[in-house]
Amino acid sequence: LREIYIGGLTGQRPQTTDLKLLEQQAREKLSPEAYAYVAGSASTETTARANLAEFEKWAIVPRMLRSTTLADFTSPTRLFGRDYPTPLIIAPMGVQAQLHPQADIATASAAAELQIPYTHSSAASRPLEAVYEQARFEENESDAWFQLYWPTDDELTESLLKRAKKAGYRVLVVTLDTWQLGWRPRDLDQAYNPFLTGEGVANVFSDPVFVEKYCDGKSPLAPTATKDDITSASVAAISQLSPGVSRSWSELALLRKLWGDGPIVLKGIQSVPDAARAIQAGMDGVWVSNHGGRQVDGAVASLRQLHSISEYVRGIEVEEGKERPTVIFDSGVRTGANVMVALCLGADAVAVGRPWAWGLAVNGQEGVTSVLKTILADFELNSALAGFQSSTQFSKAALVRTDAPL
Ligand code: FNR
Repeated sequence: LREIYIGGLTGQRPQTTDLKLLEQQAREKLSPEAYAYVAGSASTETTARANLAEFEKWAIVPRMLRSTTLADFTSPTRLFGRDYPTPLIIAPMGVQAQLHPQADIATASAAAELQIPYTHSSAASRPLEAVYEQARFEENESDAWFQLYWPTDDELTESLLKRAKKAGYRVLVVTLDTWQLGWRPRDLDQAYNPFLTGEGVANVFSDPVFVEKYCDGKSPLAPTATKDDITSASVAAISQLSPGVSRSWSELALLRKLWGDGPIVLKGIQSVPDAARAIQAGMDGVWVSNHGGRQVDGAVASLRQLHSISEYVRGIEVEEGKERPTVIFDSGVRTGANVMVALCLGADAVAVGRPWAWGLAVNGQEGVTSVLKTILADFELNSALAGFQSSTQFSKAALVRTDAPL
């Protein structure tokens, strides 16, 4: 806040804090296809709208005269055995090259500086090693997580996980809801799939097993690669990342074997029975998400499922010396109040997706930083003004349902 008002005295104008306006600016800068890819969701986009509408059904009840200060929100957020200064996470997002030439490097660098965990997508536009090194996670005392779209080829899975571990990625995020891309009319109508544009998925193109098995040993990233080489590599990559075959619960044992003792969280959990199976399978957390409404149209809003899942997870008996499983939430987080509501309904942390993508499109790394700082400042100020003295006070008792009878 102070940064913005003081900057104003010397004529500096910040990136807009109005997300709708920022999205509009991104739209003007991007190709119509890239804009549609990010903005679009499945089918009628009912679920995407429901994700936002569900937040409006919860209202915060402000309390007064509680000796609050803005500094109260420095209490750390503990996720998978590590403390972070904020409750935000960067949601994984593929093919960022269509948004900005710096792509994943810009996003990861912004996250590292703010010590917000950055989740690297399997479908990233830059190789995971390059992103880890260039974003300087260790120098910033920050960390990065790796998101897996689970390939059908176990050797490729093993290679991706080995590379991620070796590079320094700490947490494995396994996305379960996208074993096939959803029905997305905005992309279908433009016959657009960014995975097939060539610049899409360097993360997979840089994999030695992928190159050996699917590209006849010729790297599609080499300067000598022809357009045909790149197209056939893109088709192979998409059929590994989104193979049209769902794995089963028993197969999680393979990922546990490959990832060793490191934390694993399942992304795309939307029900208590699935959360229970995840924990029974030895997973370290659940990531409640409907992929921003991009997969199952007509599916329940992600926020609506959060409280029952978090209550279930918090009720689990935990062995001595172990931490209880972590609950992460995403789908529809746009404002500080949204972050508060998700924490009140039991999330340990919330992941942000589309908002920073608009910042990336408009202003690269600085754009991402600005969006994250905006949400954080809004969260801290709003929480303090509502009378919260520390993050430990977020609970369902601090909310009312706006549709409940008086
Ligand atoms: C995504 N998301 C996603 N998830 C994932 O696990 N791996 C991925 O590569 C991607 N890629 C991706 C691209 C784009 C353009 C979008 C918008 C989303 C889903 C993402 O992690 C997150 O679940 C949603 O973005 C949350 O919804 P909102 O809040 O952005 O609407």
